[in-house]
Amino acid sequence: MKVIAINGSPRKRWNTAQLCQAALEGAAQAGAETELIHLETMKFKGCMSCYACHSKKKYNTTVCYYQDELTETLQKCIAADAIIIGSPIYYGFATGDVRAFMERLMFPIDTYEVDDEGCRPIKLDKVIPTAMIYTMNAGEEHMRNNALGMNEGELRRMFGYSESYFAYDTCQFNDYDLYAANLFNKEHKYARREKQFPIDLDQCRQLGARLVEKAKEAQAGVLKREKLRMPEEFLKTLKR
Ligand SMILES: Cc1cc2nc3c(=O)[nH]c(=O)nc-3n(C[C@H](O)[C@H](O)[C@H](O)COP(=O)(O)O)c2cc1C
Repeated sequence: MKVIAINGSPRKRWNTAQLCQAALEGAAQAGAETELIHLETMKFKGCMSCYACHSKKKYNTTVCYYQDELTETLQKCIAADAIIIGSPIYYGFATGDVRAFMERLMFPIDTYEVDDEGCRPIKLDKVIPTAMIYTMNAGEEHMRNNALGMNEGELRRMFGYSESYFAYDTCQFNDYDLYAANLFNKEHKYARREKQFPIDLDQCRQLGARLVEKAKEAQAGVLKREKLRMPEEFLKTLKR
């Protein structure tokens, strides 16, 4: 049982990395072998739109055909039993690195086909439970962002299971006095790091352990990928 966490923050020791690490601790306690991968260490691009993975000749490939420093990580993810993706929020979305990684991870297993039941087949046979961990300055009341919900929806469609954890109002600097950032109340931020962040870490440990349970259910055939029927109206607009 292998659980991989992808840290999409350029900072290797800060909020996102620590929460990814905590999720892996939870997974390890539940019996998994774990690996933390920092996207920052690799030079890579997002989907190049080469469409090799959608060509009839290479249709069966499930790993992005374009080769660069991300290739090994993509191979590891497809071979893994569970995947955790951590991202800070940058201007309302996951970071560019995380978006690029997800394009490369998902497009080769996705299809532009429609089956007899009106569903899009996924090339990956197995279910790989996934989770997103987001960290951000904003409080919960400001982060009602549909785009983040879409990440979870697409991961669920592709890999069969997905959940998200949101770590709000994180502490961004060790010393706020060194930065031009009077938008923030530094005492509040230090207090958040002291009081809320340990709770976030614990929640992520539980998330990691939960994913291992989901992976076991997937291996036992209990957790199955739900086939999502595309709405008739949507299908009509595509096929017109
Ligand atoms: C370029 C940039 C853009 C950011 N944009 C947002 C944002 O739109 N909303 C928000 O809540 N936080 C934003 N933040 C703050 C980070 O999401 C937050 O500090 C996060 O916890 C940092 O993760 P890290 O500690 O793992 O690097 C931004 C930070 C940076 C560097």
